Amino acid sequence: MMLTICKNVLTTSRIKPLKIKTVALTALLFLQLPAYAQQEVIDARQEGFKDMGAAMKTLRDELKSGKPDSTAVTSAATELSVLAEKLPTWFPAGSGPESGLETDARAYIWENKEKFDAISNELIVESKALVSLASSGDKSALQKKLGTLRDNCSSCHDSFRVD
Ligand code: HEC
Repeated sequence: MMLTICKNVLTTSRIKPLKIKTVALTALLFLQLPAYAQQEVIDARQEGFKDMGAAMKTLRDELKSGKPDSTAVTSAATELSVLAEKLPTWFPAGSGPESGLETDARAYIWENKEKFDAISNELIVESKALVSLASSGDKSALQKKLGTLRDNCSSCHDSFRVD
């Protein structure tokens, strides 16, 4: 009985839908696995950006105060620079909206990687410059550099992040 059915399936056109079904099921299995990994990638990325935001806030608050604490400025600038170096690793293929997971990263990142990488490289360079300036106590130079950094964050968000 089973043999006859199998034979029928194999010898008639019914083999086609059967094949498609198998392919679809296999694809589903493979999609499930990366979804877990992608969730971790997205969580780590969003945590990293939150820390970046916190470092920027510390810097802003310190520079707003009459006498910035150079230890706090140095430590926040260093953290920002370390995070900036990591940013390029936070966007592996598949971790965008096509993952079906909650993320504000736009598909445009992977479509225009050159521009995205140029902005992240600028963040690396400028945050390093901020570290060098941090211990100088030169408030106006620091303020100016912080402005450049803030523009860098915004220019990436404007193009590559969902509002
Ligand atoms: C090269 C692009 C790029 C640069 C530069 C950049 N960001 Fe972002 N940022 C993003 C993207 C994309 C997201 C959305 C991430 C997601 O939801 O998966 C994001 C998200 C964030 C978030 C929200 C995190 C959350 O989910 O709670 C904060 C806060 C943030 N960025 C702060 C900053 C700050 C501060 C800077 C500058 C020091 C900066 N970003 C520079 C691309 C960038």
